Amino acid sequence: MDIPKFEKIEDWFKFLTGLEPTGDQVNVLKSVTNLEDKKIVVSAGRQSGKTLTVAVAILYWVFCYNEPIKILLISPQTNVLYYHIRNIFDRNKDLFEGHVLAEGVYSLVPLRGFTTDRGTQVWVKGATDKQIRGIPADMVVIDEACEVKNDIILTALGNLSGKISKIILLSTPHKSNSLFVKWATEPESQFKVFQWSSEGLAWHDKTLLETKRKEMSREQYAVEVLGRPPTKEERAFFPKKHIDKCIFEGESVREGGQIEIGVDFGETESKTVLTVVEKIGKIRRKVLYVKSWKLPPELVAPEIMTEILKWKPSIVKADNRPKEYREALKKLTDKIVFLDGIFHKDLMLGQLQAHVREHNVLIPQNQVELIKQLTTYKRGKSTGDDYVDSLALACYEFEVPRTSFSKVAISSIE
Ligand SMILES: Nc1ncnc2c1ncn2[C@@H]1O[C@H](COP(=O)(O)OP(=O)(O)OP(=O)(O)O)[C@@H](O)[C@H]1O
Ligand SMILES: [Mg+2]
Repeated sequence: MDIPKFEKIEDWFKFLTGLEPTGDQVNVLKSVTNLEDKKIVVSAGRQSGKTLTVAVAILYWVFCYNEPIKILLISPQTNVLYYHIRNIFDRNKDLFEGHVLAEGVYSLVPLRGFTTDRGTQVWVKGATDKQIRGIPADMVVIDEACEVKNDIILTALGNLSGKISKIILLSTPHKSNSLFVKWATEPESQFKVFQWSSEGLAWHDKTLLETKRKEMSREQYAVEVLGRPPTKEERAFFPKKHIDKCIFEGESVREGGQIEIGVDFGETESKTVLTVVEKIGKIRRKVLYVKSWKLPPELVAPEIMTEILKWKPSIVKADNRPKEYREALKKLTDKIVFLDGIFHKDLMLGQLQAHVREHNVLIPQNQVELIKQLTTYKRGKSTGDDYVDSLALACYEFEVPRTSFSKVAISSIE
């Protein structure tokens, strides 16, 4: 049987599924079938019809486009997009019979992708480097994209070539550090973004939605039901609204608490930063002084010593890397605690994050660079975080582990 041609893509959807597409679904159908739209993100609530919509649009390319093409469908677990495709084949057996080949034989529901009688190929692959590397594609679709590791998404981008070269990502936006959320929220990424909510869809039960609204947190409801990715602000490691509450006007004056110093050493791009904080009561920390240098180890070590002698801290905590700095300082003093960043970094930043959220770090507003770095801080960032790391060290409360593991965690504690 010949595959019928439809003027409007929504009629193709109705024809294949027997369902009426919503306005949002029609917009996605149009964009996916438009040669001009190369990069597409569909971020919508759970069970809101994203995968089915893209499955229908893919079938348009497979059966209605006039040249044979290669399509790669990637998903982290069960490929629901392909499940929808196979359902559609099942529903329309008479139509597709003879057009769909699997492993050289005609079959209506092949398991791992198929070829059409006109030579178009659809590959169904898991989200691993091994499975997707080396498959050339005109179009890549990544379903449940938040569950796919960022480097796998980048590998998949590398599979694309040719005049169609289209990538489509679909997901609920539930992982803030995913490329999916980044691309869905940052206009510079130049992705076409489609977003819709599961609220008000005819196939969703109103009382269930009501329960979700009651039981879910505001953020969870936004992601799971509204399909709205967290904004840059919501994703920030140190939320701006909390940083603002930590900042005070005027000079930082001492209040008689203990002084603690944190030192983060400069590597290639960054500076060596020393932060002096005062412990006020049990939990509050006030930033008294910050100093930075771009100097090699043997020149920065005496500078650090001058500050230590001036401030008379109860403790000085420094990163134990790079070792050249540690060695230069050890020649001058045995009073510095060197902490292994690999072991302590997450803990230190976790503590600082809690301090900021609870407004327990007091930062004078003239500490412009520190405030800027806190605002833009991202986990795993490797440059532009030296002021934050130095403050995290200065505020860090650690317990000396009692097991032999302490030898690994703390390289020198005198
Ligand atoms: N236009 C529509 N009319 C009626 N039902 C629809 C429509 N679109 C989708 N559905 C129903 O919603 C179900 C889920 O669709 P789909 O798998 O595309 O959702 P999804 O948004 O990808 O969900 P998930 O968040 O779980 O991945 C479909 O199996 C179908 O029953
Ligand atoms: Mg889906």
